[in-house]
Amino acid sequence: MDDLKAKYLGLISGAGSEAALEELRVQAVGKKGEISLQMRELGKMTPEERQLMGPKLNALKDEINSALAAKKAALADAALDERLKVEWLDVTLPTRPQRQGTIHPVSQVWEECTAIFADMGFAVAEGPQIETDWYNFDALNIPGHHPARAEMDTFYMHRAEGDDRPPHVLRTHTSPVQIRSMEATGAPTRIICPGRVYRADYDQTHTPMFHQVEGLAIDRDISMANLKWVLEEFFSAYFGTKVKTRFRASHFPFTEPSAEVDIQCSWENGTVKVGEGDGWLEVLGSGMVHPKVLQAGGIDPNEWQGFAFGMGIDRIAMLKYGIPDLRAFFDSDLRWLRHYGFSALQVPTIRGGV
Ligand code: PHE
Repeated sequence: MDDLKAKYLGLISGAGSEAALEELRVQAVGKKGEISLQMRELGKMTPEERQLMGPKLNALKDEINSALAAKKAALADAALDERLKVEWLDVTLPTRPQRQGTIHPVSQVWEECTAIFADMGFAVAEGPQIETDWYNFDALNIPGHHPARAEMDTFYMHRAEGDDRPPHVLRTHTSPVQIRSMEATGAPTRIICPGRVYRADYDQTHTPMFHQVEGLAIDRDISMANLKWVLEEFFSAYFGTKVKTRFRASHFPFTEPSAEVDIQCSWENGTVKVGEGDGWLEVLGSGMVHPKVLQAGGIDPNEWQGFAFGMGIDRIAMLKYGIPDLRAFFDSDLRWLRHYGFSALQVPTIRGGV
């Protein structure tokens, strides 16, 4: 028994790996191990011999088991020491530069518009992108036969066979939100509605989905003069420089009188600069809300009046940030997004009190 003990304690202390240690365990105290076989011999002994040998064998087994456990722990410690020697870490190193996502120019400009109009007391209103034809057309004084319906290149939703209700549409402008917010809050009201709109059109300056921001202000004595002031105030804050506007008589079914609004700009070597020069660029449609539209929104046109405008968000984003092609806005090309996108921490560049 002493030989066995000396043999195994020697082998265990010399074992170089956990695998070698496991082999020794099987060899010594496994089911068919040397010590286990010895224990089986106990059965053949006289009771006296057994009383002497039993405890000794058990003690030997225990001793070997604990030697195995101790060696196992020592091997693990040594392995950890080895790893720590090679796997050291310099916590003073700067972190690796990691690409962050960017804010899309549309989102940036959307925020800028919201901030500027909020400063002038406009709340943000919302409406659905799938509209009934009543909100998108009829309530805005565009009856079924009106050419404006055809002009808008409307996307119509599907109706089941035999269902002759007029189909819903993808809203062609943000103007239906005028009606929805009149219904919701009545007069007086002052809201803007930035949002997605849809028209079947595609070239360098048109995409089937684009963005508008609608404006609506209704009170007892709101006039075109207020409209002009609000828009000049907006453009000056947005472009960070005093911007003149030019109103051209126009026609929209939902406003009377109506005006298309241009902003002052210069053209030099193919680049546009807003707020200088003697060129003009069209950026929005506007006018005094038509009495029929007020009525459709549940507001008495004998008591209330107001202005409305609709402006292209993508258009003014292209102008401010020098982006040449609208189609690229919605291609999700990462190179484009990295180039034209904004850092999440970049605060909108707007200037108040111009
Ligand atoms: N809805 C018009 C368009 O999309 C813009 C507009 C809005 C004009 C409000 C006048 C008043 O072209």
